[in-house]
Amino acid sequence: MSKEAVQHQLTDAEREAHMFALYEQVLEIEGRLIPTGLHVFGRPSEQAECADLLRMVASFDRPEIGARALPDLVAEGLTDCGLRIKDSEGRTQNEDAISEQSAIRNPQLKNPQLKERVDAIVREAIACFLRGGIDEACAWLETTARVSVEQSRSVFVLLEKIREQLQVNGELDSLSRALCGEYIEPGPGADIVQNPGILPTGRNTHAVNPYTVPSDLAFARAERVVKLLLERHAAEHGRYPQAMALVLWGLDNIKTQGEGVAQALWLLGVRPVRDAMNRVIDVEPIPLEQLRRPRIDVVMTVSGIFRDLFAATMGLLDKAVRCVAQLDEPAELNFVRRNISGQIDAENCSFDEAALRVFSNAPGNYGTNINFMVMDSQWDKDDTLAELFVTRKCFAYGRDREGRALEGREAPGAMKRALSRVEATYQNLDSFEIGVTDVDHYFEYLGGVSKAVEKQTQARPAIYVSDSLARETKVRTLSETVRLETRAKTLNPKWYEGMLKHGFRGVAEIESHVANTFGWSATADAVDGWIYTEVANTFILDEGMLARLRDLNPHSARSLVARLLEAEGRGFWEAEQEVVDRLREIFSLLEDRIEGVA
Ligand code: BEZ
Ligand code: MG
Repeated sequence: MSKEAVQHQLTDAEREAHMFALYEQVLEIEGRLIPTGLHVFGRPSEQAECADLLRMVASFDRPEIGARALPDLVAEGLTDCGLRIKDSEGRTQNEDAISEQSAIRNPQLKNPQLKERVDAIVREAIACFLRGGIDEACAWLETTARVSVEQSRSVFVLLEKIREQLQVNGELDSLSRALCGEYIEPGPGADIVQNPGILPTGRNTHAVNPYTVPSDLAFARAERVVKLLLERHAAEHGRYPQAMALVLWGLDNIKTQGEGVAQALWLLGVRPVRDAMNRVIDVEPIPLEQLRRPRIDVVMTVSGIFRDLFAATMGLLDKAVRCVAQLDEPAELNFVRRNISGQIDAENCSFDEAALRVFSNAPGNYGTNINFMVMDSQWDKDDTLAELFVTRKCFAYGRDREGRALEGREAPGAMKRALSRVEATYQNLDSFEIGVTDVDHYFEYLGGVSKAVEKQTQARPAIYVSDSLARETKVRTLSETVRLETRAKTLNPKWYEGMLKHGFRGVAEIESHVANTFGWSATADAVDGWIYTEVANTFILDEGMLARLRDLNPHSARSLVARLLEAEGRGFWEAEQEVVDRLREIFSLLEDRIEGVA
């Protein structure tokens, strides 16, 4: 073969690899579950919303009721029955090549046509179910995709129950009964896709027994997430992080029964020990031979809600750090021990001081206030945000060697010292509904701790986020997550048109997404310039869209323009001068409009 031919072939292969990488990204965006409107209190779901939700629920295995994920059943049915599916080149693939069960789950999915076919069949099956009920949908699926009635029935029985529950809405009734001091039935608090048992809504949400956290399931799931997290970091940085800072929230640990807590335990390399009542009362080290990697030092920055809900767990996390620090193990395999003993030697401080790792607000206090500072544009230097995080969050919890509780001792020095070793920060996302640009709390916490680390180390840490609810758990960098959320939500017409149906409030939601995105520039420099360019193009520089936003909610439209100008002014976005000029002009027009209306 000639050199040119080899070169040509290589280019083709590279091109193909690039195409698949792009295709995977498109799939990822397409498959991202997003809310397509706001919930209106007291109002049952509309038909289209109901169909979307049922499809999401049906795309997960439900071992507890013996139901398999519908897309998997369809993919297997299609390939088992010998349906030959053409690949992107129009070649016919043999069954073996495409009959892997993992065709849908596998991120290396190499058969776009199969996926599209499966998606279309699942969509139609749900529509058929909503029109004609369980029997009709099962029969249709058997004929179309050779899914056995027995297997599809268990999925549709679940969907039928959910459909019924979505049609009733006792929220207003429950609220008025609650206001009269009457009894409200309890229901679990979770993500609807994770646990459809949260339906019907309008019940008194109950949490978990904090003493059972983390559950066995949460601990098992966390093992995989931590493995992916450490592998990702090692692949990009050549080694495991010497120390990490984790954000732990209360509600997330309720919904996941403690996956965040379990991830911290896995990083440290310990497992929970339970008593006869299934309460977690202690931890024990996982032997290094079993762990097959070093124990990672972990700084835990804990929300005020977590502190209030999980007092025993706060103690458990502190205990875990102390337990690991005292293991007789080589320094290169136990970063906790190495860091703590190094600090004791260098600074002549006590073990208790060097082992502080669990930090939250002062008792009775909540939040970092970084969100308020960013939203109000009240900061000038990065250091201001970093300092604010430490000031708000430097209260240490746990017990000293004599067993005395610290109960939120102010310890800024200890916190800064612990953060000064951190190389990576991390937070687990627990819900499809709330992502990193939906609320300002993600950037105030994960962005805040990352900024605090940056100040202590003079280097930006690697920042990771994982989805604990996705079918295939994925660890992404923060920048990847911001890009994904922007494409799947903020810039996605399905998302913003869903919001705009809510009029005034919908525009406020769009503006709030842009402001939260800006929060990631402010705290972590994690926003690509094109994101601001596309936001400007989509919402402001498009005359028709600008007119809609202006008519629905000129105040939020003005804030959105102001935020874009601020992003440019602070150097987060390099906009062309004519774009900046136009934005300024539009800002003035919106101001005039608001004053005229006022
Ligand atoms: C929490 O559940 O801990 C939490 C909720 C909202 C904002 C911050 C923390
Ligand atoms: Mg959440």
